[in-house]
Amino acid sequence: MRSFYNFKTLARLIILALPLSLAAQPQITVQVDQPGTNISPTMYGVFFEDINFGADGGLYPELVKNRSFEFDKPLRGWRLLRTSPEQGSILIMRDEAKPRNPRFIRLNVHQAGHGFGLSNEGFRGMGIRTGESYRFSIDARKVAGNSTTLRVQVVDTEGKILAENRLAGFNKDWQKYEITLTANATEAKAKLHIWIDGAGTLDLDMISLFPTNTWKGRKNDLRKDLVQLLADMKPGFLRFPGGCIVEGFNLEQRYKWKDSIGPIDQRIFNINRWNFEFRHRPTPDYFQSYGLGYFEYFQLAEDLGAEPMPILSCGMACQFNTAELAPMDQLDPYIQDALDLIEFANGPADSKWGKVRADMGHPQPFGMQFLGVGNEQWGPQYVERYQAFAEAIKQKYSDIRLIAATGSDPSIFPNGEAEVDYLWQQWRMLKPDIVDEHFYRKADWFVENVDRYDTYPRDGIEVFVGEYAAQSVAVASPDNRNTWKTALYEAVFMTGMERNADLVTMSCYAPLFGHEEAWQWRPDLIWFDNLQSYGTANYYVQKLFSLHKGDRLLKATLAHAPALDESKRGLFVSATLDEKTGEVILKVVNITKTAINAAVELAGAQNISTPAKVIVLHSPALDDANTLREPKRIYPQESTVAISMPNFRYEFQPLSLTILRVAVEPIDNQQ
Ligand code: AHR
Repeated sequence: MRSFYNFKTLARLIILALPLSLAAQPQITVQVDQPGTNISPTMYGVFFEDINFGADGGLYPELVKNRSFEFDKPLRGWRLLRTSPEQGSILIMRDEAKPRNPRFIRLNVHQAGHGFGLSNEGFRGMGIRTGESYRFSIDARKVAGNSTTLRVQVVDTEGKILAENRLAGFNKDWQKYEITLTANATEAKAKLHIWIDGAGTLDLDMISLFPTNTWKGRKNDLRKDLVQLLADMKPGFLRFPGGCIVEGFNLEQRYKWKDSIGPIDQRIFNINRWNFEFRHRPTPDYFQSYGLGYFEYFQLAEDLGAEPMPILSCGMACQFNTAELAPMDQLDPYIQDALDLIEFANGPADSKWGKVRADMGHPQPFGMQFLGVGNEQWGPQYVERYQAFAEAIKQKYSDIRLIAATGSDPSIFPNGEAEVDYLWQQWRMLKPDIVDEHFYRKADWFVENVDRYDTYPRDGIEVFVGEYAAQSVAVASPDNRNTWKTALYEAVFMTGMERNADLVTMSCYAPLFGHEEAWQWRPDLIWFDNLQSYGTANYYVQKLFSLHKGDRLLKATLAHAPALDESKRGLFVSATLDEKTGEVILKVVNITKTAINAAVELAGAQNISTPAKVIVLHSPALDDANTLREPKRIYPQESTVAISMPNFRYEFQPLSLTILRVAVEPIDNQQ
C-alpha cells in the first residue's frame, strides 16, 4: 500500500513536471523600428478630491478649524478658556452686511486678567515644527472697554507653550491684524490659545494660523510635503475638486466654484458631503472653507505643469443621495457657471471673469482645455443635460474638450452594466470628446480586464479612466488597505491602458489623499497625518508609469506567457519609446511568485548603448504595504544592467513591476 502511494505521487509529479520542462520560454518582442501612436502627455494624471480631509486639514494647511464660525455649529472646533463664568462670556453674532461670511464671535471680558480666551483644536490637532514660523491673522474690532491685548499661544497637549506672541491696539472698526509665532518644538497635536487681557468687548472673525513654510511660500498657499509628492509624479493633468462633492448631497450643497474665489473672507462655506456620507466613518467637522478654491486649483495645476481639469455640476445632485434635478428650463444658471468658468480660466484680464482672476494675481490665462460636465451621472436625464451644456459651450468655445461620464463603477450603481451600455450608445451618437469610466473593483478584476480596451471601437471618442483603484476587501470597505497586491494588479491594468494609448488618453487613481485620523474612504494614493506623509505602493506604480510614459507606443508582444492559475496569465508587458533620449521603455509586470526568465527581442534595433537602466518595484508578499512608520517598505530600486544586443535574456523578479530603459538606434530601413 505504502509503495503504491509513493509510486502514484511520483507519477503525478512527473506528469506535473512534464509540461513545465517542455513549456516554451516566455518571449517578449518589442517592435522598435515602427513607433506607433503618440502617448498623450495627459496619459497619467492626478485626481484631487476633497474627501478624507484632502483639502481643509490636508492640502490646505490652515491650522484653525472653523476660522470664521460658519460651521453648522458655530463653536465646532472652539472651546472657551475660563475658570469661572464671572470672567467673561461669548456671543455668536450675525452681520447681514457680510452675507458671504456673516458670523463672528463677540467676547465680553468681565474681569481684566489672564484667565479668559478661546482655544482651537485644529484638524485632529495642529502640526507644528520646531524653528518654523506661523502667521497668525485675525479680523477684530473693539466694541467697548479696555480689552486691548491678545496673547496668542501654540500649546502642546499638556498645555506647554510652543510659541507665543502678542497683538494689541484694536480700534472700533473692523481691521485685519497679523503677527508671527515661531515654534520651539515639533508637535503633531498642538492647539491654539488666544487669551484676552483687559476687560471690555471685542469682536473677532477670520482667526487664522497658517504656516509660512508652504509649497511656494505664498500667502494662502498649500502644504509643501503633499504638493511635493504630487510634483514628483509629474502628472499630466489635475482633475478637481471631486468626486461626489461636485454634485452635492443636494443641489444647494453642490460645489459652486464662484463661492470659492476672491478674498478668502468672502468665500462661502459649504458642508462637505463626506461629513455624513458613511455612517461607519462620520466626520461631523468636515466642511469646505474654500480656502483652497478654484484659483488655487488652477495655480496648483500650473505649478505642477499639469493640465487643469475642473469638473462641474450639471444640475444633478449626487444620484446616490437626493438625486435632485434642476429642471431643463432652469438649467441656464448651471450652464452659465460653465461659460463663466471658461472665461475665468482663459479670458483676457479685462473680461468680467478674467478680471477676477487678474485681481487675484494671475493676469495671464490659465489655458484650460478640459472640462468635465457632471461627475458620476447616469440616465437619460444626464444625457439631455450634457447635450444642453455641450451645445452652449461648443458654440462659444469650440476648443474646450468636454468630458462625459458613464456613471459610477457598474458594479455599484443601480442597473450598472445596462446603464453604462446605454450611456455609451448615447455617447457614440453625441460624440463628446472624452468619456470617463470609473472602476472600484477587487484586484483580480484589474488583471482579468487587462485587455478591456483592445476591442473598444475607435470612432474618435477618447477614453478617460477617471477613477480607479483595486479594493482589497470590497468597494469603500473601511477594511480596505493599499496592499502590494492592489498596486501590482493596477500595474497590470495600466499596461493594458498603455497598449491602447491611441484610445485611452488619460487616467488617474482615486481617491488621492487620506488623513490617517479623518478618512472616510480607503484605499487612497497618499496618506498623511498633521506632520508626515507617504506614498503607498499604488503611488509608486502611478509615479513610475508617469515618469516613464515615453512619447510613442511600441508594439510589444508576449509569447508563451506563464500562467498564474487556470484563468490568469502571470506576465504582462507594454512598451513605449522616449524620442528625446532614444530609449525603449519596456514595462513588465510579473504577478507570479516565481522569477520569470524571459527572452527579450528589440526587433529592428541596432547600436544598443549599454548599460540599460532598470527600475524595479517589488515586495515579497502581496499583503505588504507602506505605512507612516515604514513609508518606503515598497519603494522603487534603480540599477543598471549590461545589455548590448537586441536579443537578451532577463529575469523578472517574482511579484514585481520592472521598467527597462534601453537606449537603441532603430535600423534605418531607408538605407
Ligand atoms: O472617490 C470616491 C468617490 O467615488 C468619488 O467621490 C466618486 O466620484 C466615486 O463614486
